[in-house]
Amino acid sequence: METAVALDFLGDLRRTHMCGELRAEHAGQTVLLMGWAHRRRDHGAVIFIDLRDRTGHAQAIFHEDVDPAVHERAEQVRAEYVLAVEGTVELRSADTVNPNMPTGEVEVVARRIWILNESKTPPFPMDENKDVAEDARLKYRYVDLRRPQMQRNVMLRSKMSFAVREFLYGQGFLEIETPFMTRSTPEGARDYLVPSRVQPGTFYALPQSPQIFKQLLMVSGFEKYFQIVRCFRDEDLRADRQPEFTQIDLEMSFPQQERIFEVIEPLVQRICEVAGYNVPAQFPRLTYRQAMENYGIDKPDLRVPPMHPVTDLLPELANAGMPLVAIHIPGTGTPSRKERDEFKAFGNEKGLRVYDDARRLERDYPEPMAKVRERIGAKEDSLVVLVTWAGEPQGHRPEETVLQAAGQLRLNLAQKFNDRHKLLDPKNFQFLWVVDFPMFEWDEEEQRWMAAHHPFTSVHDDDLEKLTADPARCRAKSYDLVLNGVELGSGSIRIHRKDVQAKVFNALGMSDDEARRRFGFLLDALEFGAPPHGGIALGLDRLVMILAGETSIRDVIAFPKTARGTDLMCEAPAPVPEKNLRDLGIKLR
Ligand code: AMO
Repeated sequence: METAVALDFLGDLRRTHMCGELRAEHAGQTVLLMGWAHRRRDHGAVIFIDLRDRTGHAQAIFHEDVDPAVHERAEQVRAEYVLAVEGTVELRSADTVNPNMPTGEVEVVARRIWILNESKTPPFPMDENKDVAEDARLKYRYVDLRRPQMQRNVMLRSKMSFAVREFLYGQGFLEIETPFMTRSTPEGARDYLVPSRVQPGTFYALPQSPQIFKQLLMVSGFEKYFQIVRCFRDEDLRADRQPEFTQIDLEMSFPQQERIFEVIEPLVQRICEVAGYNVPAQFPRLTYRQAMENYGIDKPDLRVPPMHPVTDLLPELANAGMPLVAIHIPGTGTPSRKERDEFKAFGNEKGLRVYDDARRLERDYPEPMAKVRERIGAKEDSLVVLVTWAGEPQGHRPEETVLQAAGQLRLNLAQKFNDRHKLLDPKNFQFLWVVDFPMFEWDEEEQRWMAAHHPFTSVHDDDLEKLTADPARCRAKSYDLVLNGVELGSGSIRIHRKDVQAKVFNALGMSDDEARRRFGFLLDALEFGAPPHGGIALGLDRLVMILAGETSIRDVIAFPKTARGTDLMCEAPAPVPEKNLRDLGIKLR
């Protein structure tokens, strides 16, 4: 195919500087830059080309009277052409200095230009603040990734990964790879399966996490393992979920929970520092019970004040033995009637009875309400709402249903009135640990207990006896790292004894046979001197997302998938030729 302009060879040209590096101190030097033509302004006898590489922009200037042939060549340049430009760095005159550009004090007076490649007109502009439809961005991802936002995010991610490696190597962790073609590792999602050609009718599963392998590495005596590792989960996607995502995964031998925290807190602190933020050296710890009671969720957003049970102060407002909970959002002021109707409707939908009219409550119950306000620390301008359960108690931990619904209303109010109270500042990073999770959760669909974390999690020493007698009240040695309402990481102290592991499998309704079939190799390994061990995995994508100030995980992954799990650029997933299926012994229904 013909090109629109004659192209030059790279030959043995070598860049001397990156565009973004040039400063006043380079004045007088001859430099050779390479990059993309970000913008070209043609003033007739003078042409300006804003040259871009990953470090920034530099202005090259082509004067007709310096070299008419070079000037003519510059005339042919269009947006996103790939260029090499050689010239002399000169200070700009005072009136042309651009204070908004790090290289704005200088320009390169071009003496030579090589057009290394041309470009079609890009599907969307490369500028910072242009809203572009996400489908177009994902289809032309390689172009989208040139935009400053994406360049920043991808580079930040790389810096963060490096900081993780540097830190963990420094702490004596070994980076060890684990297989991608393996057996199912249960983390609560569906597996992606890979059919075997050599053994028709059998499948590998892509790992939902390296969980079992990292435990086996502890049995093998490596003591401190980590990996920045891809995990695969076939689950419903949301803004903070991808079917393949990356974990900072680690495991240690002989740890208590606090030993794990002692590694993660400074690690996270270091990662934040790399992103330009200072966070405290220690994060607060909340038990799961406290988190539920005060936030109605196991991943509390501490930027918004807690809610409090106030059943004892106004028992007549609590329904059917369920708690009465006071929510308050400072800085909101008195909501309008319409706003009250809206949040009341939201609460009702979640199953709550909502006392939305604080003025009226204060008139009807002056003394108890004064105590409520004192307990929750309400201020003059606080929005105060009381809620209880509207219907009959439900579930195995019924009080949790009302707390959860109240927690949802609390967050709804925080979001709804954020432009007044501004509590949800994305740069206010409030980390915390949630500890002492319940061991089991009741699965309504399957009508059985499921592991709240995963089935290799230790039970609290004090609750070992409750495993079969009272599973609902059994606490696990598991913990989550939470940031601003997002679950960033999860981990636990593991079961290292075969007898306990068998008991837990049984409590989960797994027969000995099934346990053997699915996890026989792990049970075997536990018989060969498995040390006490534990670990954690942090979601790298989520951490980058928050520190980059993004709200979608897709904006911090170079090649992400859409909410339907599609890669719009390479059009995956895709049908495969009949012959491939035949080789695999697969027939589509
Ligand atoms: P868990 O399943 O909680 O624990 O995963 C750990 C962290 O990984 C992130 N994460 C995700 N990020 C993006 N997209 C997803 N689909 C997705 N799923 C999970 C979250 C989460 O907190 N093996 C255990 C860890 C352990 O016990 O050591 C595990 O995988 O940030």
